[in-house]
Amino acid sequence: MKVTVVGAGAVGASCAEYIAIKDFASEVVLLDIKEGYAEGKAMDLMQTASLNGFDTKITGTTNDYSKTANSDICVITSGIPRKPGMTREELIGINAGIVKTVSTNLIEHSPNTIMIVVSNPMDTMTYLVHKTTSLPKNRIVGMGGALDSARFKYRLAEALGAPISDVDGMVIGGHSDKGMVPLTRLATRNSVPVSKFISEERLTQVKEDTKVGGATLTKLLGTSAWYAPGAAVSGLVQAIACDLKKMYPCSTLLEGEYGLNDLCIGVPVILGRNGIEEIVEIELTQAEKDHMKESAEGVSKTNALLEL
Ligand code: 2OP
Repeated sequence: MKVTVVGAGAVGASCAEYIAIKDFASEVVLLDIKEGYAEGKAMDLMQTASLNGFDTKITGTTNDYSKTANSDICVITSGIPRKPGMTREELIGINAGIVKTVSTNLIEHSPNTIMIVVSNPMDTMTYLVHKTTSLPKNRIVGMGGALDSARFKYRLAEALGAPISDVDGMVIGGHSDKGMVPLTRLATRNSVPVSKFISEERLTQVKEDTKVGGATLTKLLGTSAWYAPGAAVSGLVQAIACDLKKMYPCSTLLEGEYGLNDLCIGVPVILGRNGIEEIVEIELTQAEKDHMKESAEGVSKTNALLEL
């Protein structure tokens, strides 16, 4: 199993590190445009192998896509991250050009790959990869919902005063401050609805804190977060590589599902060796449907800025 991660910045390197630590891939190639940077990150990570006990081989390359040839999975993290006060949507101008070039180069050397898109604005970048590569829709996966759901679980556990392993919850919709739809109604503590333990008001606070999860960290760190994004990507890569048939909310091209068309947005999917093997349609309340529709309108508005 060969995995390429484009972008050896904080998110790309974290992602490579988590993949290696889980030790299910034979090879991870890190690629970056900055001279020597990916090589350096790869060497540093390889020097943790004996300490952390993994056999995954990590190599780095400065923009040489021939080194990525025949990757089973390619992760695109390249582009600029947001700075405090910026929305993910504001990154579209620079990142669209980068993602277009990167996805074209990747597909040239790995025509059978599955692509995971992380660059922001993520839903629009996932849509752009569809338009650029014409890969079948099951082979293009947008990472957002897995990260947002992890942040949701963190906030739920905090509000409940419970260990995170007790908590389950999912965020669908767009990967943006306004577009996320945390499904509080379905969140549980060991199968018991969380509304049994916390007030409606506290739950609304959890929802709002989840939606600005990325912005809160950007403000604290001065740049976008990396540990949770890296871990979320590694989870998706593992589900695909190991054919786990795991359900994650991912951004995928919708063709009528959830009453939506011609956009990529976060919905629950089953991930296995063929990428997105199924889109799971769950019953939503009218309020959740309205929120999802509003979220989709936001994503479509950003998509309209693409020069396709
Ligand atoms: C985040 O929310 C990187 O968009 C990503 O942290």
